[in-house]
Amino acid sequence: MMGYRTAAIIGSQWGDEGKGKIIDYLAGKADVVVRAQGGNNAGHTVVIGSKKYALHLIPSGVLRPGAVNVIGHGVVVDPAGFFAEIETLEADGVDCSRIFVSDRAHIVFPWHRELDGLSEDRAGGSGIGTTKRGIGPCYTDKAARIGLRVCDMLDADAFKEKMSARIDASNEVIEKIYGATTLGKAHMIEEYAGYAERMRPMIADTGVIVYDAVSSGKSVLFEGAQGTMLDIDLGTYPYVTSSHPGSGGFIVGAGIGPRMIGEIVGVVKAYTTRVGAGPMVTELTDESGDAIREAGHEYGTTTGRPRRCGWFDGVVVNHSVRTNGTTGIALMLLDVLGVFDEVKLCYAYETPDGAKIKHFPASLEMLAACRPLYKTMRGWRSDISGCRSFDDLPEEARAYVGEVEALSGVPVKIISVGPGREQTIIREEIL
Ligand code: GDP
Ligand code: IMO
Ligand code: MG
Repeated sequence: MMGYRTAAIIGSQWGDEGKGKIIDYLAGKADVVVRAQGGNNAGHTVVIGSKKYALHLIPSGVLRPGAVNVIGHGVVVDPAGFFAEIETLEADGVDCSRIFVSDRAHIVFPWHRELDGLSEDRAGGSGIGTTKRGIGPCYTDKAARIGLRVCDMLDADAFKEKMSARIDASNEVIEKIYGATTLGKAHMIEEYAGYAERMRPMIADTGVIVYDAVSSGKSVLFEGAQGTMLDIDLGTYPYVTSSHPGSGGFIVGAGIGPRMIGEIVGVVKAYTTRVGAGPMVTELTDESGDAIREAGHEYGTTTGRPRRCGWFDGVVVNHSVRTNGTTGIALMLLDVLGVFDEVKLCYAYETPDGAKIKHFPASLEMLAACRPLYKTMRGWRSDISGCRSFDDLPEEARAYVGEVEALSGVPVKIISVGPGREQTIIREEIL
């Protein structure tokens, strides 16, 4: 497509759709894998044989020998999390020598994490339910034009001075607004000086690396984090993250032109989950929700929180397809629905005044008042995790896939029936 061998892999719901699995699968063919937004709030699980890897900040391409891994400037980089993750991966024998970090990426500092926690604690039960990784406060500083970037680490003395000024300013907020204990300075500055030296050989103008790879015909995979409904513009604001998980996020966050993205793969869970607060129209608070949670092991990869579970929401997926320009769907965790006699898909919402709507509403008050309208289908009530082709799937499961295509208007190109690499049905090649 467009002559470029590129694909963007984006979450179509509220995150945790199985992006990590698909990125790892496709990364076998990729020369470069690029993260372009979010930070270590992400938790991407990749299962290879009996080994399970949880990736947060490092692109999932690291598990494929040969792929270059890029952390673009739209990402917020927590050096403590970054090096802890590298250490864990290296202890598992993973080669982490092909990772580049953008010199323009913003740095997450302890005061960001502290302020994230304090603001959530102050909100009590009405908080966003963030991962408390300091993501929101770091992007806040970026937008306020007071953040520090990775390139600032390259000049050791100037970096210390800049950090010192930011610690003073943040401590003022911590103490005077929140009445909390201020953060110590000397130790933090020393800690970050250490990170700066360790990161120095990995720091690059990653926009050039990505552009050169794409324009020379290499295969490049853009790894989305979070999901469209957590996008600060497209999602359920204010219950969102502070970046752009949609496909547009790659343009700003990796620094490429929009025509350089070929395929846009919307990763879609066969049902819906959400961690954190905010309305979710198809949420199931009864035993069906528990059945999904247990069958799908729906507990957060980053925070361990139980995920809220519900039926497939076609209004959400449609919103996602339209706003991302999705060209194909990777339908994940289809095996999980094998525990039901009947399965349901939401095709529209009904508003309190009886109107049927198919476009996702902006107002959360309106959303909270919406009722899901379902199409009920026969379930397949069997274990499909061993199926390796579309024709292997029971008729009811094939019909369910067909309904997802009908509701979204996009072909389902990949079907996943288990966490393993081999548990993947390819209906149309990508990359
Ligand atoms: P991500 O954040 O989008 O990468 O998704 P997560 O890794 O947070 O959550 C997806 C979970 O589902 C992980 O535990 C995966 O190992 C698992 N998973 C992925 N695809 C499948 C599948 O088709 N079936 C099952 N049963 N599990 C899957
Ligand atoms: P992956 O990449 C699911 C959610 C948090 C919270 C909101 C804001 O694994 O799909 P933040 O810490 O970003 O300020 O929290 O966003 N959230 C995710 N939910 N998967 C993720 O990433 C998420 N990253 C953030 O739970 O509701
Ligand atoms: Mg996740």
